[in-house]
Amino acid sequence: MKNIILLGPPGAGKGTQADLICDLCSIPKISTGDMLREAVASGSELGKKVSNILDTGGLVSDEIIGALIHDRLSKPDCEKGALFDGVPRTIGQADQLNQMGIIFTHVIEIFVEDEEIVSRMSGRRVHSGSGRNYHILYNPPQKEGFDDITGELLVQREDDKPETVLKRLKVYHEQTKPLTDFYNSLSNKDNIKFFRVDGSKSVEEVFENISKEI
Ligand code: AP5
Repeated sequence: MKNIILLGPPGAGKGTQADLICDLCSIPKISTGDMLREAVASGSELGKKVSNILDTGGLVSDEIIGALIHDRLSKPDCEKGALFDGVPRTIGQADQLNQMGIIFTHVIEIFVEDEEIVSRMSGRRVHSGSGRNYHILYNPPQKEGFDDITGELLVQREDDKPETVLKRLKVYHEQTKPLTDFYNSLSNKDNIKFFRVDGSKSVEEVFENISKEI
């Protein structure tokens, strides 16, 4: 059983590494970002409620995130564990996951300097249907502008505008970064393995460093 949390600022490469780790460990990815974007795209009540928050780089409430995770964990594919991409993002969410009885085995912090993040985001392209992401320079699709698997058009995320990226970084430093100390301190007491990897290295090198630890 592996329950793995990926922590790190927006654009650190969590989604990119999450797909590789899920393949390696045969566990599903639970990405609250992907789930919320799907809700917005479907036009559901939840989507209408969170659309503006996502576009402007704020955080969706802990209550909404708790309900999403609770629902997702009831699916049978989570029986052998899961990869938590971008969740928890606040101490309140960490408490909620704890109350759900999830035993985390690994917490991985991917760290990248803020300056690099801003330049990375401008080159990101995503496949809306699956959340698969690319970078026009560092991780390009086989055919420019199109998803490798489905051949569908890639798009730019609304929240990848430079001013929104700066807001997301501010929110990260204020509300999410404290979780790294929180989990690091738990790793001394519980059986959680906490480690940091340098996300400024290539996608392959970052994955190699993560693979060694899990
Ligand atoms: P979410 O989708 O989770 O966004 P994020 O955490 O801000 O992370 P990103 O998806 O932007 O980046 P990433 O670290 O996954 O990097 P990626 O692999 O794409 O959340 C979006 C919004 O939803 C939030 O702002 C919030 O509003 C809401 N939300 C979500 N979860 C929430 C929660 N739990 N609580 C409250 N609100 C929540 O890589 C970025 C780019 O870099 C790509 O182009 C990629 O190809 C490239 N790249 C990746 N690795 C490398 C590398 N090693 N070298 C060079 N380029 C690389």
